[in-house]
Amino acid sequence: MKNIPKMSLTSLFLIIVMIVTAGCSSTEKASSTNHSKLITDDSKPYVGFLLDTLKDERWYKDKALFEEEIKKLGGQVKTLAANGLDEVQIKQAQLLIEEGVDVLVVVPHDAVISAEIVEIAHEAGVKVVSYDRLIKNADVDYYISFDNEKVGEIQATEILKKVPNGNFAYIGGAESDNNAILFRQGAMKVLQPLIDNGTVKLVHDQYTDDWNPDIAKENMKTALSKNGNAINAVIAANDGTAGGVIESLAGVGLAGTVPVSGQDAELEGVRRVVQGLQTMTVYKPINLLAVKSAEMAIMVAKGEEVKTDKQINNGKIDVPAVFLDPIAITNENVRDTVIKDGYLNEADVFK
Ligand code: GAL
Repeated sequence: MKNIPKMSLTSLFLIIVMIVTAGCSSTEKASSTNHSKLITDDSKPYVGFLLDTLKDERWYKDKALFEEEIKKLGGQVKTLAANGLDEVQIKQAQLLIEEGVDVLVVVPHDAVISAEIVEIAHEAGVKVVSYDRLIKNADVDYYISFDNEKVGEIQATEILKKVPNGNFAYIGGAESDNNAILFRQGAMKVLQPLIDNGTVKLVHDQYTDDWNPDIAKENMKTALSKNGNAINAVIAANDGTAGGVIESLAGVGLAGTVPVSGQDAELEGVRRVVQGLQTMTVYKPINLLAVKSAEMAIMVAKGEEVKTDKQINNGKIDVPAVFLDPIAITNENVRDTVIKDGYLNEADVFK
């Protein structure tokens, strides 16, 4: 063991991620030592899919559905997840570029730091599609996501239906994620007029590092103790953070009494909605996102231009964009939406 050369933690982690994710990717495995051999058919468009993490339930769906669509369109794809580490995500981009990808589809961990991925990709003549989350301050080629401000508007609107006034807490997502900024912006668009006229008092307002449910739980504990448990409603940015918030509310006997929002229609999130512990979640049909982004990726890989009907300024340029519609889920429409679409199955939800 002694004569193994000292290897940086990142490189060691990267090799472990490579070995693990190489097992998941749909391309044939030649031998793990010679990366370029992993690509079996040079005539097929080769798509690199870079995920921030596989920690949240939805990203497994994104991975499976996107890979399936790329294959259907005659392409080949490799997916790598960075486990929330920026330097690993940049290294993974370098590796896929060296392997000869024709396009990179990226879910950035950090909206600003990931700009480096666009730079190194463009130096190699590889275009970049920002998937679900926007890469800021870079010449991103295309962006595809859901209308993220609308997500926030839907969350605030559904909560106000239950509690039209009182003390509100906002438990946001990761500030490094541009979506978390947009979700909060959308919620505040609805709440601000009520805050201005004193109907609603925003007694706690905090982002959650890395979307971590345990951190959301601690932040909610702070909010409760800071306000003598006098909190009437919580806008939590996704189901993960909502789960943490509801655990804290349970700790003071308020779970099911204080309305809480969520997002992603995770199984546990929807189960809490039908049990009355969580007021709502936001369903984002990922199959639509996967289909449209795979079409986009294959066209870009073939050097074709993609027509888009929208654009968004990322701090450097107006990025051509496609936005899909999010859907509010409450106890009333669970069967007509996520169950009917086969996104979740009835037995699991109503177990
Ligand atoms: C956001 C995404 C959400 C949520 C979150 C945590 O960017 O839009 O759906 O899952 O990340 O991973």
